[in-house]
Amino acid sequence: MTTLKLATRPAPAVAADALVMGLAKDAEGPVLAGADVLPADAVAHLAEAAKTLGLKGSPDEVARVVGVPGVTAKSVVLTGLGPAGDAAYDGVVLRRAAGAALRSLIGKAATVAVALPAPDLASVTAVADGAYAGTYQYERRASAAEPTVTVVSGAGRGAAVKAAVERADVVGSRRRLAMDLITLPANLLTPELFVQRVKREVKASPAKLTVSVMDEAALAKAGCGGIIGVGQGSDNPPRMVSVTYRPAGAKASIALVGKGITFDTGGYRLKPIEGMLTMKHDMAGAADVLAAVLAVAELGLPVAVTGWLCLAENMISGNAQRPGDVVTMRTGMTVEILDPDAEGRMVLGDGMALASEKKPDVMVDIATLTGMQMTALGRRIAGLMGNDEAFLARVAAAAEVAGEAMWVMPLPRDYRSSLDSPVADIAHKAEAWGGMLTAGIFLAEFVGAGIPWAHIDMAGPSWNPLGAYGNVPKGATGYGVTTLVELVESYA
Ligand code: BES
Ligand code: MN
Ligand code: ZN
Repeated sequence: MTTLKLATRPAPAVAADALVMGLAKDAEGPVLAGADVLPADAVAHLAEAAKTLGLKGSPDEVARVVGVPGVTAKSVVLTGLGPAGDAAYDGVVLRRAAGAALRSLIGKAATVAVALPAPDLASVTAVADGAYAGTYQYERRASAAEPTVTVVSGAGRGAAVKAAVERADVVGSRRRLAMDLITLPANLLTPELFVQRVKREVKASPAKLTVSVMDEAALAKAGCGGIIGVGQGSDNPPRMVSVTYRPAGAKASIALVGKGITFDTGGYRLKPIEGMLTMKHDMAGAADVLAAVLAVAELGLPVAVTGWLCLAENMISGNAQRPGDVVTMRTGMTVEILDPDAEGRMVLGDGMALASEKKPDVMVDIATLTGMQMTALGRRIAGLMGNDEAFLARVAAAAEVAGEAMWVMPLPRDYRSSLDSPVADIAHKAEAWGGMLTAGIFLAEFVGAGIPWAHIDMAGPSWNPLGAYGNVPKGATGYGVTTLVELVESYA
């Protein structure tokens, strides 16, 4: 497990296998960012090396240089920042540059010091966070020992800076848990196996959390027809898990609800193989929620948080849900199942209803909910919807700090009638056009009265099939965890 620490010496004096420096793109060629932290002969050597290697300073360009004079580290790794600016580099740029550098060093350095331009607390956090993300290896395939990473701060080494790096270490390690869970194949992470992992992680955590599990019998008794209906086609029955962190004197209480479909075949609207193949990651929302609650507890934030993990497997069988079935949700609302592949909103509806009953101050749900989110916003930007402008602005601000791209989308009131059903209180889907929005409009029905609520559709950003870039690995990205922790921290 990677450990992240604040470097105790200035960049030239850090003893490490590799010292990471930023290279920015300028009109006259690449320039070493924060060059003032190194002695002149080191800067000259690196400038010459950059020229020889034909470096440009573009994002994801990484090169390792040895024999740099005036530097204690055994090598210097140049990582591209993109365009040089007068202003400080933003969190996204720093995360990318740090992440790309660290990924290139997996198995090639035991100790790494990262000296990217980080003149304030927010940039130190971004560098630390990106570096941690770059070290990711799936727990079952980790082939190389992970490096120890130190962050060279440009903002001094005071208590606040030290705390920021320690915080990034906690968030990074919990995001890694989410990524491991998302990567686990569905046969190794059924709803019940997920529950067991939750219990194990909570037990092993130094923080105090409690876990409560509803099995299929408890869910049926509680009238949770949404999650029961989705899970009834599987031999691996559904579970609703709540993980609670309730510190004394909490300043607020927050409910986080995660979609946890351990596999989404589409049910009797079977997905074609291309679409089905990656559907083990349809539990990314639940994994994110678990990770965020653990991180918040381990950071000891003075905010009560309950994570709701809506776990089910969407399969076909003699007992699977049929198109046209009508089920009764926890709230008593009846729903016509037009499409067994629109299962996420059914498990979330019950989860959000249960969460609302505890009267949290605010509620967020996070889900790989619709392909239409990807149609609208692509692979890297999540859709953010909700019922309260001020709360949405707060979530968006948290996402900005976290370096996770999110765009606010509307929930148009007059689209609600497209969910009218002749046989039930509501249908759970409308036409494909605007499908991200009508999914959100459906979910809004399960928000308790007066609770500010935000809905994050991260179908695209939660999974990266194309290849690693910056701080984002291939496959499970852990997208969302950092935003959720930032959001909770905004109440601390
Ligand atoms: N899990 C999928 C959404 C998804 C698609 C996530 C691609 C990640 C990548 C969800 O359950 C689903 O199947 N949604 C349907 C909604 C439709 C039936 C209203 C979809 O996207 O087609
Ligand atoms: Mn589906
Ligand atoms: Zn799904």
